Amino acid sequence: MASGASNTAINQPQDGLFDISLIVNGVTRTARVPARRLLSDCLRHDLRLTGTHVGCEHGVCGACTVLLDGVAVRSCLMLAVTADGARVTTVEGLTGPDGKLSPVQQAFADCHGLQCGFCTPGFLTTITAALLDNPEPSPEEAREIIGGNLCRCTGYQNIVKAVLRAAELGAELRAAELGAAEPRAAELKAAAPGRADGS
Ligand code: FES
Ligand code: FES
Repeated sequence: MASGASNTAINQPQDGLFDISLIVNGVTRTARVPARRLLSDCLRHDLRLTGTHVGCEHGVCGACTVLLDGVAVRSCLMLAVTADGARVTTVEGLTGPDGKLSPVQQAFADCHGLQCGFCTPGFLTTITAALLDNPEPSPEEAREIIGGNLCRCTGYQNIVKAVLRAAELGAELRAAELGAAEPRAAELKAAAPGRADGS
């Protein structure tokens, strides 16, 4: 037998199922999946994370968008086995550990950015990723950010407002975190000379 054929045999499990491991929303999750299992189906059916919605299943609507190592991807266009070892953030992972809504989620609530909600998980993940790259989008950039996601209910205007509101909330959060960090940094600085001279 040629050595190439032998390598193929080693990588192909006899039952046709592959063991994969993903870090989903900060938690290591494992699954046994066929090679053809879509990441979207793996999340929904194997890992029971049904917040990721499936609309078109061919990359058009954006409802299935998740973050893969921080980058927005369409999980209906990706095989679960190709995500093995990656960090995945689904809509369930946007909320803080204390249950607090993320700035993007809060902005959707503030601006009435959803109606039926089917498209919403995809918008939330898409906008979250985009604001990491561009925390202060202009109204035109806000439209571009959501340009690849479809919504049949809202007419998009309130979603554009939600992008801009999320940017504001994100800025407020960063300012608050900086404000909390500065007194602590000042405390440490004040304490440092004492430590240095042994007092
Ligand atoms: S379900 Fe993936 S893009 Fe529509
Ligand atoms: S809120 Fe219904 S499809 Fe977007």
